[in-house]
Amino acid sequence: MSGSGIGHDQWKTRFGFMLAAMGSAVGLGNIWRFSYVAGESGGATFLLIYLFFVLIIGIPLLLTEFSIGKAGQMDAVGSFKRLAPNTKWHLTGLMGVIGGILILSFYSVVSGWTLFYLYQYVTGAYWTEPDGGFGAAFEAWTSNPIAPLFWQALFLGLTILIVMRGIKKGIEKANNVLMPALAILLIFMAGYGLTLDGASEGLAFLFTPDWSMLAEPSVYFMALGQAFFSLSIGICGMLTYSSYLKAKDRLPAATVGIGLMDTVFALIAGVMIFTAVFSYGVEPDSGPPLVFIILPSIFEGMPAGHIVGIVFFVLLTMAAFSSALSLLELPVAYVHRTLGLTRKAATLTMGSIIFVLGIAASLGFGVWSHIQINGNNILDMMDNITANVILPLGGLLMAIFVGWYLNRDQAIKNSEIESPILQKVWYNIVRFLVPILMIVILFISLFDI
Ligand code: PHE
Repeated sequence: MSGSGIGHDQWKTRFGFMLAAMGSAVGLGNIWRFSYVAGESGGATFLLIYLFFVLIIGIPLLLTEFSIGKAGQMDAVGSFKRLAPNTKWHLTGLMGVIGGILILSFYSVVSGWTLFYLYQYVTGAYWTEPDGGFGAAFEAWTSNPIAPLFWQALFLGLTILIVMRGIKKGIEKANNVLMPALAILLIFMAGYGLTLDGASEGLAFLFTPDWSMLAEPSVYFMALGQAFFSLSIGICGMLTYSSYLKAKDRLPAATVGIGLMDTVFALIAGVMIFTAVFSYGVEPDSGPPLVFIILPSIFEGMPAGHIVGIVFFVLLTMAAFSSALSLLELPVAYVHRTLGLTRKAATLTMGSIIFVLGIAASLGFGVWSHIQINGNNILDMMDNITANVILPLGGLLMAIFVGWYLNRDQAIKNSEIESPILQKVWYNIVRFLVPILMIVILFISLFDI
């Protein structure tokens, strides 16, 4: 007996799980979000702190999250209920489910733009600069109340179709194709970037730190949020994925592989984007539109730029898609079990709710652009609340759960780490270092704002 929730599906292979988890991690976060956050936060210094956080907080927490799902063998809420019956710990899972719904709501808007840009490149419409420039085209496009919704719905519809088919037949199969293709395309793009004149300036921006930025508290805060967002930790999406593992499939090596892969992807994406940005003399801190305004104008001036544009937007769409699968699976697994809906019905219901919420994020660029807090529109707010609050808070709670609620033997057994030294290192990181570091960073940034 599997002892799991209603019809709990499983991964066919551990490698399939690894590809799917990498698919979740590698996404718009590595390319769209990483490049604009790094660009705004000073490049190399940000990168250094980001790498430090990935290593010291991110990967240990990823294992923490996986260990809860693998031991719990149920969805985000169910796994906590099983490991901590009659407590409130399952609210961590519920917050994750809500976080996942929120992220996918705005993620599908940006993914819809990506899909539309891909279409524009395939039809040739963006091979040359549209009247008024790419900036005006982007603005006209995002402020249009109807058209972006169509592309957002198309993107979500495809995601729904895959998630409906379940773990083995849907999510695992899709990632088996998406991830290798993604790796090849990204390496091709970065290699091309390195051949551009002026590429060395981009590399210097990314790899030569400006030490004075270390005194800037907001850099730590942004780097922490980015590490969480990029590794998909803190909202139980990874927990849900690990709950579909078989008992014999071990966690630690897979976790390190997934964490490193995500980081390598971010680095290669950084090389690809900043070499292009610098060789065409563009400012790196142009914010979220970097990928949609700056890159197209760079592509236009490049030799064979339209092919580069097509490849780039195929890449971005596929990366977004593999992450969206995990974001949808998270609430679907929960309502599938608790509401007794079939997987199909659960997927359709959650997909529709997410679409409706996403409409608000989309309209925030046009008819609802007056709804702003501190200059942030609805999409920015959803992004900030999830990446900078819900994800770190979820991660902190999971560290406390494993480090303080579970007893030491149970925590270590669930982590499946074999070496006694590594057991000690991991356990102390989760029990002490992660909570302390995170609380300090949260405090510093609160007083900074
Ligand atoms: N990690 C994904 C990305 O980089 C986003 C994501 C966050 C996916 C949280 C799942 C959970 O784009």
